Amino acid sequence: MSHKFDPASMEKLLRAERAEFQPVEPLLRLLDPRPGERYADIGCGPGYFALPVAERVRPGGKVYALDIAPEMLAMCRRRARERGLDDIVVTLQNGEHTIPLEATSVDGAWLANVFHELEAPLEFLREVRRILRPQGKLIVIDWEPVEMEMGPPLEHRVPREAVCEALEAAGFGGLATHAIYPYHYVIEAVRESA
Ligand SMILES: C[S@@+](CC[C@H](N)C(=O)[O-])C[C@H]1O[C@@H](n2cnc3c(N)ncnc32)[C@H](O)[C@@H]1O
Repeated sequence: MSHKFDPASMEKLLRAERAEFQPVEPLLRLLDPRPGERYADIGCGPGYFALPVAERVRPGGKVYALDIAPEMLAMCRRRARERGLDDIVVTLQNGEHTIPLEATSVDGAWLANVFHELEAPLEFLREVRRILRPQGKLIVIDWEPVEMEMGPPLEHRVPREAVCEALEAAGFGGLATHAIYPYHYVIEAVRESA
């Protein structure tokens, strides 16, 4: 059974210290979002990463902020409205491994601190592949499976090798890992065309 983040604790995802160990800028550099592009933040929570990406894709772009928890979507929507981003950020409720977006409809996607919560990772990644355009980029960020004072329990964490294996099985290639965060691995992958 997977472990889901409790929406009642969502303020933890927005605390100021997060910027010290998981700043947004490195993700922006990897994704390189441009005006007019479309991205999916899957398991968006209150939109820690979704909102800064939304700033980069305007005018004309979209960030689909997807989450299984309606409380997270409501908070993300509220924060987008407060920042004047409600025409860019589109909140949508995700299924456990179904994404309510058309095939090849996004230029890129990311899963931040979500992979370890998935009940069916392979089915989920196949669904992410479906919504990405060919050669579209997926970034997976998740907790290193080592003891530390914060983050999910060790037994729920997923080693990066298992994530890479699932990505390849789901039809992603060009895998690269980036050592940009002290407590998290960051894996970049592209949707192969075949
Ligand atoms: C630890 S929070 C991370 C939130 C956000 N990505 C961040 O880094 O601030 C994990 C989020 O994934 C969501 N989640 C878990 N399983 C999901 C699924 N199958 N599809 C979409 N969202 C999911 C949870 O509801 C929660 O909001």
